Amino acid sequence: MSEQFFIAKDLSKAEQYEALLPQLRALTEREPDTIANMANIAAALKEVFNFWWVGFYIVKDEELVLGPFQGPVACTRIALGRGVCGTAWKEAKTIVVPDVAQFPGHIACSSLSKSEIVVPLFFGGHVWAVFDIDSEQLNTFDETDARWLEEIVRLL
Ligand code: SME
Repeated sequence: MSEQFFIAKDLSKAEQYEALLPQLRALTEREPDTIANMANIAAALKEVFNFWWVGFYIVKDEELVLGPFQGPVACTRIALGRGVCGTAWKEAKTIVVPDVAQFPGHIACSSLSKSEIVVPLFFGGHVWAVFDIDSEQLNTFDETDARWLEEIVRLL
């Protein structure tokens, strides 16, 4: 298994995701353990894009519980409909937040987080986890991130 990702720095964001996806597929396809694959996907996204916080929350007993992540210590439990993560879970859709201060009920695990994207993971039509990425800058995420991150979480 390669420990390095080969992503040229002069590529556009979409091209970087495009180059990363097959490398993530190669990294995860022979490993059946979902938690291990979540951990490596979080590490890869953090390394390639240098995001502030990258991680998963997993649905357990009607709550989201913190799963594998890279970045500072985070809140461990989020209720349905609470914050960006709980809203993405409840509405079963990707949520892009250009400015977290403008999102009603945003849960500030870190005061340095300025923008955020949360992508739900589906099995049998139900959300079983969410993938959450935080940035220290405003307006980091857009439709390009949404599209590619939705593709990336299908690896799980
Ligand atoms: N900001 C998230 C909480 C999780 S942390 O960002 C890691 C939210 O509002 O759901």
